[in-house]
Amino acid sequence: MATELVRMENINKFFGRVQALENVNFTVYENEIVGLLGDNGAGKSTLIKILSGAVLQSSGKIYIHGKEVDIDNTTDAINHGIETIYQDSALVTQLSIARNLFLGREPLKGPSFLQWMDQDKMNVEASRLMREVGITKNIPPTTPISALSGGERQAVAIARAMFFDSDLIILDEPTNNLGVEETQGVLRFVRSARDSGHSCIFIAHNIHHVFEVVDRIVVLRRGEVVADDIDPKQTTVHEVEEVITGMRVM
Ligand SMILES: Nc1ncnc2c1ncn2[C@@H]1O[C@H](COP(=O)(O)OP(=O)(O)OP(=O)(O)O)[C@@H](O)[C@H]1O
Ligand SMILES: [Mg+2]
Repeated sequence: MATELVRMENINKFFGRVQALENVNFTVYENEIVGLLGDNGAGKSTLIKILSGAVLQSSGKIYIHGKEVDIDNTTDAINHGIETIYQDSALVTQLSIARNLFLGREPLKGPSFLQWMDQDKMNVEASRLMREVGITKNIPPTTPISALSGGERQAVAIARAMFFDSDLIILDEPTNNLGVEETQGVLRFVRSARDSGHSCIFIAHNIHHVFEVVDRIVVLRRGEVVADDIDPKQTTVHEVEEVITGMRVM
């Protein structure tokens, strides 16, 4: 039996009079990559923003490992092992790769009354992590993010999620605006995240990318879950497209 990692129960979200989510039930199991699909405005980003603490639900509950939790801000989410990666994510472009990897969680050294950041340790760890996520080109960890390509930036964000051993890594449109090579890199990272025991929620408009990496597909349509157990190995892209547009019920 699969072990439940995160369960969102009866989630509703209103933005003024617009209801972005309606009674959404959404579960992610351990060691699973879930593809979240739906047309523009279906509510995908809103759902994962609630999980990552960027948006507060109007009603509904969130359980992690079966225990009810409050996720009121991004720090809460991170403390619960949830890391979110957006396209051009939460990286600070002026700061180095190493600084971004440890942002807010810098290793310290020196006596407790006079601590400073352990820059050497961050640089060594940063180099190791970048290799681990498949950046073979020797980019010094002191390089500012602004000097990296989109795919390399994604790699830094993913490395951060992996280093802090997040249970759940959320990727919202991580392959947007990326080249072929970089996209393959991101898809590789997602697979390697699962291989190392993490779970992922993967949102992408390119349904083929979703089919390439996910174990299960959930479809949102106008704020409601219309399918939550589509097996990409048993289903065609065309069938899923019909579920997204409402022409097919699954
Ligand atoms: N901050 C906000 N204020 C008001 N309405 C919002 C806000 N965020 C989202 N919405 C509305 O909620 C609905 C769902 O939006 P959401 O961004 O979750 O969709 P999505 O599935 O991620 O779409 P896309 O594929 O285009 O990214 C839309 O109607 C959107 O206009
Ligand atoms: Mg979105």
